[in-house]
Amino acid sequence: MGEKIKNDTVASKNGTDKYRFGYTHEELERLKYQHQVWTKENQRFLSRAGFRTGGTLVDLGCGPGYTTFDLAQIVGSEGKVIAVDRDGERSLPLLKAQAKSLCLSNIETITANLETFDLQEESVDGVYGRWVLMYLPEEKVRSLIGRMAKWLRPGGVCALTELCNFRHIYVHPKSQHLPEIAEALIKAVTGGSGCNPEIGNDLPGLLRSAGLNVEIKVTVKAVRATTQEWLWPDALFRDHLPVLVKEGFLANSVSEKFLAEWEARSKDPDTFFFGSPMMEVIGRHP
Ligand SMILES: C[S@@+](CC[C@H](N)C(=O)[O-])C[C@H]1O[C@@H](n2cnc3c(N)ncnc32)[C@H](O)[C@@H]1O
Repeated sequence: MGEKIKNDTVASKNGTDKYRFGYTHEELERLKYQHQVWTKENQRFLSRAGFRTGGTLVDLGCGPGYTTFDLAQIVGSEGKVIAVDRDGERSLPLLKAQAKSLCLSNIETITANLETFDLQEESVDGVYGRWVLMYLPEEKVRSLIGRMAKWLRPGGVCALTELCNFRHIYVHPKSQHLPEIAEALIKAVTGGSGCNPEIGNDLPGLLRSAGLNVEIKVTVKAVRATTQEWLWPDALFRDHLPVLVKEGFLANSVSEKFLAEWEARSKDPDTFFFGSPMMEVIGRHP
């Protein structure tokens, strides 16, 4: 398994200098729950993209590699996955350890900032990215997509999936505090850096402008309290609301009222939660 480190993992001008939610054990667990909830949809998305055995694929903002391993399985031993993330301290070492324990030798990791990351033109067959472009300033997303379209060989395909309507998040029975929580999360992701937590809406146009033929699908996922899947929103609210309060994005009184209400709802099997719809965009090189 190869490994490269680019010395541009820090912020470029007008860029972000870190991943918004950090790399604590709790955050990496939250990403795992999130991946588990979205696994079936993600697999359907990968099969619609039609990534092939023997190809070279890129996983943008791979984190600890949840989808990287699926991609590695698709391309097989004749192919290669280039897994790129700015976190060379925790996420990529976890990915590498897991690859080793699965005896996968077809994954190359690169520590790099996607704001400036680049590859040779026509050097890959596919690009995948999920829940990562929302953490890049919009102008950096635009330039990344321009570069990315050039990496694709003729017939290549990219599959990108991002949130597209964060204010749509809902808990039933309805919580009067949730809209304020959603606004605080949006502000925290947007920060002062021009990131767009709903960048999914812009992706079809950006891929089309980059010369790709575009297909879209929007997916929503609902989870029920008292099930394993509930861990996904539960981790988001329990881990991150105290941080939002500390950073001044949310009033402590709202956070406390919401978390007390959430605690009670979590015991009720008739409660359900759904998150932001996800925009799944496939762009095919003509
Ligand atoms: C929410 S996690 C998603 C991880 C993975 N794509 C998944 O679907 O589970 C976001 C990941 O994007 C990475 N990331 C965010 N901004 C980045 C940037 N500018 N350059 C490289 N990686 C970045 C973070 O380090 C983090 O691992």
